[in-house]
Amino acid sequence: MAQQKALFLESFGGEFAVRSTEIYKPGKGEILVKVLATALNPVDWKIQVFKMFVKEENYPAILGSDSAGIVEALGEGVASFSVGDRVVHEASFSSNKYAGFQQYVLVPAEIVAKIPDNITFEQASTIPVGLATAVEGLYGDANRGETGAKKLAPPPWEAGGEGAFKGKSIIVIGGSTSVGQYVLQLLKLSGFSTIITTTSLHNADLAKSMGATHVIDRNADLVSEARKILDDPIDIVYDTVSSKETQAQSLDLVAPGGQVISTLFLQVDKADYPDKSITEIYADLHLPNLRALGVSLYGKLTELLASGALKPNRVEVLPNGLAGIPAGLKRMERNEVSGMKLVVKPFETP
Ligand SMILES: NC(=O)c1ccc[n+]([C@@H]2O[C@H](COP(=O)([O-])OP(=O)(O)OC[C@H]3O[C@@H](n4cnc5c(N)ncnc54)[C@H](OP(=O)(O)O)[C@@H]3O)[C@@H](O)[C@H]2O)c1
Repeated sequence: MAQQKALFLESFGGEFAVRSTEIYKPGKGEILVKVLATALNPVDWKIQVFKMFVKEENYPAILGSDSAGIVEALGEGVASFSVGDRVVHEASFSSNKYAGFQQYVLVPAEIVAKIPDNITFEQASTIPVGLATAVEGLYGDANRGETGAKKLAPPPWEAGGEGAFKGKSIIVIGGSTSVGQYVLQLLKLSGFSTIITTTSLHNADLAKSMGATHVIDRNADLVSEARKILDDPIDIVYDTVSSKETQAQSLDLVAPGGQVISTLFLQVDKADYPDKSITEIYADLHLPNLRALGVSLYGKLTELLASGALKPNRVEVLPNGLAGIPAGLKRMERNEVSGMKLVVKPFETP
């Protein structure tokens, strides 16, 4: 059986190790992608350290949620791609064959996009999870059914969506995070007139280049600084950081009846905010409940990237391919990465 290299998290809370494993065969509607770049995400170190998201019986597990590469083989019925196409997609640690930290990965063709010529593989690999989280939080159903909070509709790549929220204001906590950079760009496309964000001040220009109209120092008193800028009550705060402190700030800022969009689970006592809701995101486009939004997005992603309407994150390529991932994750855990996506090239693995 043909073999490839993959990075395994060997056991629940255990250590990472690179070793050989099988190369999968694409099933009906699937593509086998040769992964030329894969990006690191905070969830990858959190799975190891906090023993979350991957069930104990699924170890040894391959993690990794961002992939860019070349179509290696097509499953039955896939007509929209050819072998050799440059493609980008969200990978998923829900199953080893769909996870990103390996040299070959499977993915359903309907959530794959071709990479336009103006974007490198490394840049493309910074897009999937950050963008999916931004998209699900703003335009998806998330857990809104339970909270009664409303999504923004339509998204800017669908008919009637571009510029639909002209005149509206919004706050994005963490405008230099990977997710935050995509949230800012989408809000700009959606037409929001006032987009306030927080970053370290050395990332203020980065946030402005992504669409922020106002940048507040993340160490300033956000609630009072934001109120100086805003004339009207605010309906939505997108909290990409979602610490206990930023969730409390977000809930203080949002008007009664409004919602906070959170990338992490609830860390404050919701009973203190009875007239406000928190929408929690889990942005895996492989999941059935997110699939329709993913198909809609990936149908337009090539165009959004080619036109420059969506820009990737800045990239730092780590040495040693898959073997370089554990050291990169440690840097992320220690909060040593700022306004940058760490990326590896799996075929550089020693
Ligand atoms: N639920 C989901 O499906 C999902 C998906 C993706 C991510 N997430 C979660 O969302 C969070 C963001 O992920 P990411 O990949 O976008 O992160 P990231 O890019 O790795 O985050 C690094 C950035 O965080 C910023 N930051 C940290 N604390 C901040 C604060 N108090 N205020 C403002 N900015 C702050 C730093 O900004 P400065 O350097 O400018 O200070 C830095 O640039 C993580 O907790 C991640 O686990 C959840």
